[in-house]
Amino acid sequence: MKTSIYEFLKKHAEKNPVSFHMPGHKGSDLYKKLGYESFMRDFLDYDITEIPGADNLFQTEGILKETQDRYAKLYGVKKSYLLINGTSGGIIAAILASAVKSKKLIMARNSHKSVFNALTLGQIQPIYAYPDMIADHGISGSVSAGEIERLLNENPDADAVILPSPNYYGICSPIRDIAEVVHRHNKILIVDEAHGAHLKLFESINNTSNNKKNLQLPKSAVSLGADIVINSIHKTLASLTQSAVLHLNSNRVDQYLLEDKLQCIESTSPSYILMASLDISADILEEHGMQLMEEWKDNIENFYNRATQIPGLQIINNLKGLDWTKINLNMSGAGLSGAELEKILIEDYGIYTELVTGDVLMAMSGIGNIKQDYEKLAKALEEISYKYYKIKNEKNNDKKRKLNLPKQAKLFDIPKEKKKIKLEDAEGYLCASSIIPYPPGIPILCPGELIEKGVIEYIKALRFSGEKVIGVNELGEIIVSYDKYNK
Ligand SMILES: Cc1ncc(COP(=O)(O)O)c(C=O)c1O
Repeated sequence: MKTSIYEFLKKHAEKNPVSFHMPGHKGSDLYKKLGYESFMRDFLDYDITEIPGADNLFQTEGILKETQDRYAKLYGVKKSYLLINGTSGGIIAAILASAVKSKKLIMARNSHKSVFNALTLGQIQPIYAYPDMIADHGISGSVSAGEIERLLNENPDADAVILPSPNYYGICSPIRDIAEVVHRHNKILIVDEAHGAHLKLFESINNTSNNKKNLQLPKSAVSLGADIVINSIHKTLASLTQSAVLHLNSNRVDQYLLEDKLQCIESTSPSYILMASLDISADILEEHGMQLMEEWKDNIENFYNRATQIPGLQIINNLKGLDWTKINLNMSGAGLSGAELEKILIEDYGIYTELVTGDVLMAMSGIGNIKQDYEKLAKALEEISYKYYKIKNEKNNDKKRKLNLPKQAKLFDIPKEKKKIKLEDAEGYLCASSIIPYPPGIPILCPGELIEKGVIEYIKALRFSGEKVIGVNELGEIIVSYDKYNK
């Protein structure tokens, strides 16, 4: 038997890893505990197609409609659609159904690559809204309502606005204010809430009497007036990777066009395994949601209380609008970059985290994390601090390790004639093919943007620390304009 993917997965599972990365279910324990064992045991028998009684994803009237209705009720929206190729698919369909008149879209520059893919597919012109930078940590923050208003005034013919909230680090934008601005201009607001499927569920415990004020989570965009909201149920809740839900939350969007676009971009053989996992995730939320959210909050609260005592560790949990279920760790105080901390956690403790940006390492918690996971993470960080904080202080090693996002590139023309050159020789050329660190999947350079020294250094540093950068080949080459840009 030679099965490389299967072997890899088997070996990984045998290590009994602790998961602070996607997906949110964190392995089989949650399903076992809550009584869905047969789904895991017999899943090959459940892998069917549209047999009689199984309904049809593109005209739901039976069991799939029931699950869609459950989501619509849970999230309090007009209609919910099951997605089998992630929020990515939902974003593309939402944009293609919204940017239809002028084909101009106001979009956050830190959008996920699926937004950029929708531009190509729909021949849509982007107008970039730039998020604020959180200078202390070198990560991008929220997009302001003022920035959206400015762009809408400058581009009164734009069809729609899209932005991620929370972004990958958990920072939410002021969606209520943005929705007010967008609707005053009679436009459509799409919120990529891939990372915030849990926010709506937390709203019900935000108001309970025993909730500590400092651990209020931002509200979901469905409660704040966005027209379309897309949730990766798989990222923080209990469904399988690739399963997601799109919520239609107003009458501003042409529902039939949206449904048409959804069937254009999704597989005609939707997986019943994925859709059943969405059904189970909804069931878990209905039956055990409150209790699981309370436990999740308590576990994180205990973790933060313990972690803030660790020398050399900074926990970034005090930013405005932060979804604190994303645990942003910075151990530069103990002399460790995010990539170094990530490596130690994997190699010495079997703890897998989600995302590194410079000194910041993000551990993504989910509905399936249990108390012991948080305790293992806290203990590992205590031991790492004990070892490295001491060494750093003994050597008085104040080596600067900050790897901040470079300043945003300027956008010029998309090159027609292109060539491939070494990254280090690319200063002054225009980028001709997106360059995307993965994760987070947000292009650091898009076609038409001027390549400057800072961004070259940043990409080189990412590659040096072993991170995957799509758009740079194994020889370190990228695709640029044929000539340097003549300013
Ligand atoms: C901000 C953001 N939006 C959308 C997506 C796409 O979500 P999915 O993986 O469900 O397709 C991602 C994926 O990581 C993301 O980070």
